[in-house]
Amino acid sequence: MTADTRQAMASLFDRTAQTYDALGVDFFTAFAHDLLDRVALVPGERVLDVGCGRGAVLFPAAERVGVDGSVLGIDLSSAMIERTAKDIGDRRLTNASVSLMDAQEPTLDDGVFDVVLASFVVFFLPDPVAGLRSWHRVLKPGGRAGVTTFGADDPRWAGVREVFKPFVPAELAWTLAVRAALFASLESFGQAVESAGFSAVSSVERTYPVKFADPGHWITWSWSHGQRMFWELVPEDQLDAVRRAVLAELEPLRESDGSVVLAQTVRYTTAHRGCLRARAAVEA
Ligand SMILES: C[S@@+](CC[C@H](N)C(=O)[O-])C[C@H]1O[C@@H](n2cnc3c(N)ncnc32)[C@H](O)[C@@H]1O
Repeated sequence: MTADTRQAMASLFDRTAQTYDALGVDFFTAFAHDLLDRVALVPGERVLDVGCGRGAVLFPAAERVGVDGSVLGIDLSSAMIERTAKDIGDRRLTNASVSLMDAQEPTLDDGVFDVVLASFVVFFLPDPVAGLRSWHRVLKPGGRAGVTTFGADDPRWAGVREVFKPFVPAELAWTLAVRAALFASLESFGQAVESAGFSAVSSVERTYPVKFADPGHWITWSWSHGQRMFWELVPEDQLDAVRRAVLAELEPLRESDGSVVLAQTVRYTTAHRGCLRARAAVEA
């Protein structure tokens, strides 16, 4: 994943923007609220929401900082930015705005934000530590950061992930494996955050049951976010076969009401821009 792939990633999210987080699954918006609880925004604060997408973090953050505060959302997907800008206008919000901008090297002044939030974006950056350094740079001294990442995959769903593996080119598989090392544990990611200059790094992990009405609902939903990348690696003439293989993997996981439930582990990492470098603290 080189710097050149940033635009490809943004284009991928352009294609997801219409249905992103809008298919009746408690996912990004639910996790955004938990992130905001941990960062504990207060009225009047100036917030940067990096990789804002459709505003899962931005809208509740704007509510929490109130009219005396502000939230700027940045994203490299023009479709995400256009749709979220329209929603801001429709809601007549005066304390929220969005801008088309790269998350890794945002063109923003040093030391201007009280809080930087980045929910499920850091792992898309070609150089995640460079992104973290930028977020540290734009924070005021004493400012706070809150970063959300995914934890370990649900082992019950391993068969679904296996279905896509033959279509992942070797170079991409290698890149994903190298990057996985950075996000392998709370400790490894905490060290990366510290290496970007942050102090008082603290992480907590939670696992949520994410419910889909039936296996087909998961398939539809999986086209609406980053998983779409794996669908788009499948040649058109093999899509039906892959779809059938996924359904076969999910069939045995059905609950009595026909639904399937994914155990999704999410990690919330908070940190400060301070003078002292503290050891990463990992909560249970
Ligand atoms: C999984 S979505 C998360 C969106 C939102 N934070 C949420 O929690 O719903 C990832 C977002 O990061 C954006 N993104 C990916 N790479 C980016 C980059 N280099 N710069 C800015 N945004 C980027 C995508 O366009 C997408 O909107």
